[in-house]
Amino acid sequence: MANSSGVVRAGTEPIGRTGSFTVTPEAKLEWPGGSLLLSLFVGSRRMGRSYGFEHDGHLYQAPVGYYANRGVFDLAPGYERDKKPDFTRPIGLECLSCHATRTELEPGQLNRYRAIVHGIGCERCHGDASEHDGLIRPSKLAPRLRDSVCEQCHLAGSVRLERAGKRMRDFRPGQDVGQYIEVFVGATPAGVRVNGHSEALAASRCKQASGDRLWCGTCHDPHRITDFNAVCQTCHSKPHRTGDCTGCHMPKARANDGGHAVFTDHSIGGKRDAGSALRSYFGRKPLPRDLGLAYVELATRSRDATLIEKAWPLLRGAPQRGDPPLLNALAAILAADGRREQAAAALRMSIEADPVQPDALRRLSALVESPAEARSLRSKAERILPARLPSR
Ligand code: HEC
Ligand code: HEC
Ligand code: HEC
Ligand code: HEC
Ligand code: HEC
Ligand code: HEC
Repeated sequence: MANSSGVVRAGTEPIGRTGSFTVTPEAKLEWPGGSLLLSLFVGSRRMGRSYGFEHDGHLYQAPVGYYANRGVFDLAPGYERDKKPDFTRPIGLECLSCHATRTELEPGQLNRYRAIVHGIGCERCHGDASEHDGLIRPSKLAPRLRDSVCEQCHLAGSVRLERAGKRMRDFRPGQDVGQYIEVFVGATPAGVRVNGHSEALAASRCKQASGDRLWCGTCHDPHRITDFNAVCQTCHSKPHRTGDCTGCHMPKARANDGGHAVFTDHSIGGKRDAGSALRSYFGRKPLPRDLGLAYVELATRSRDATLIEKAWPLLRGAPQRGDPPLLNALAAILAADGRREQAAAALRMSIEADPVQPDALRRLSALVESPAEARSLRSKAERILPARLPSR
């Protein structure tokens, strides 16, 4: 995990090509008509690696990534369906909150960083010693708080979202991650998923039968190599046979949700509930706002408009003030329905609550009557996130 992000150094990265792209030994990405220097990596290369590049101080995702099991470059996850290469996707906090120790953005910016502390450092699991009386020992915490330490990064669910008014970046070890995020499980195809280990383990027979005794740390001590078979036998003291328990009971499989990497199935002896209704991973009744936003997210992924019909009544009834994700979702539904003025009003409230939203600014600019206001909104968006990079 210490290598889960970092600065690209020439001569140390794999080289190769995919389609019209070539990655050179200098870590330059070249294609007919252009080139750029890869400057940041995300992913240790155990499974794969994504890259970022810098333009005018802003960090963007590169459209190609490295896949370890095939030993090749290919289009990065999420870019497979692009007709033309897209160089405008920001590397915002969403990647780095799980792949780096700490980040500090320039004020008013989305992908311009003052500082990035790469890799997963001690403080992400043990807390900052200066904020507590010494370091937190995860295994000594109450089970919900202990599990939260790993869940801050290893729990993605079918949909993961920040709760109203909460920011995951304020989470600290020792707290309950469920105060910050809602995570929905269900409504996904069965099988192994990228970053689905927490939900998979929760579905395992071992976890369901032994409850709080079993957690990630039972098998993974981040500081030493584990003998997995010995761990199984702490509970299964008279196994039906000897040999590699995990080879048969925790098979590896290609993730079914994109990418090409192979992951270990953590749902030992259990069944993943494929296709069932959305429910909270934390076992609570989800708030209408959170459930509505989850439907919107699934609707976008699956292009299934009936999910929007489910989302609308949930979202419409929720408190709107100071909740940009909710307001943006409402605005999108209203705009699609031709209710431009109401959509614009929702976007204005959203931008008032959080002005650093280039997408919302651009969408509002397409809805307002006054050409001068539209121009001003677009230029505000442009200052946060240049929409088109100059050709190089
Ligand atoms: C700040 C985010 C973060 C936290 C907190 C975190 N992990 Fe990870 N972990 C990652 C990322 C990202 C990777 C993938 C690293 C890579 O290969 O790029 C990873 C990889 C792993 C791996 C694969 C092997 C390895 O070491 O790379 C194991 C096992 C693991 N984590 C267990 C845990 C456990 C157990 C906890 C809780 C005690 C935990 N992690 C907490 C982000 C995190
Ligand atoms: C919620 C936390 C989270 C977020 C957000 C996240 N990742 Fe990850 N990522 C992980 C974890 C955990 C793993 C390890 C997966 C595993 O083994 O289950 C991982 C694995 C990876 C890998 C494979 C690394 C390897 O082991 O070789 C790459 C590449 C990657 N992520 C890139 C990204 C990029 C790019 C983004 C932003 C678009 C991103 N991730 C956002 C948590 C996250
Ligand atoms: C991915 C989460 C994670 C990270 C990152 C991490 N630790 Fe740990 N650490 C644990 C867990 C889990 C344990 C074992 C259970 C416990 O002690 O609560 C542990 C145990 C320890 C212990 C107790 C003695 C031992 O070896 O078991 C010390 C000391 C320690 N860590 C120091 C550090 C330092 C220093 C760093 C940074 C270089 C660090 N840890 C990074 C999760 C982490
Ligand atoms: C903390 C204790 C614990 C650990 C560690 C543990 N298990 Fe389990 N496991 C259980 C319990 C309890 C059950 C439920 C037993 C039952 O239903 O009779 C179970 C059930 C199972 C089942 C399913 C049995 C069935 O009824 O279908 C399998 C298979 C299994 N474990 C394999 C493993 C393997 C392999 C490992 C190591 C990778 C492991 N377990 C680690 C406690 C544990
Ligand atoms: C019963 C034992 C057990 C428990 C509990 C467990 N793991 Fe694992 N985990 C394994 C085994 C075995 C592997 C495969 C290791 C290998 O191939 O070297 C693995 C691999 C991983 C990997 C590497 C990527 C992959 O899919 O192969 C990550 C990340 C990981 N586990 C995270 C977690 C997290 C997070 C938790 C808690 C939700 C957890 N594990 C709980 C046994 C366990
Ligand atoms: C060659 C593959 C293989 C190996 C190795 C293996 N198992 Fe199994 N195990 C099975 C199969 C097949 C079953 C039958 C039931 C099923 O499909 O879950 C089973 C059943 C189980 C059960 C369910 C109840 C029972 O006792 O019949 C447990 C618990 C279990 N294994 C634990 C382990 C542990 C612990 C180890 C390692 C010491 C291990 N297994 C090694 C294939 C294997």
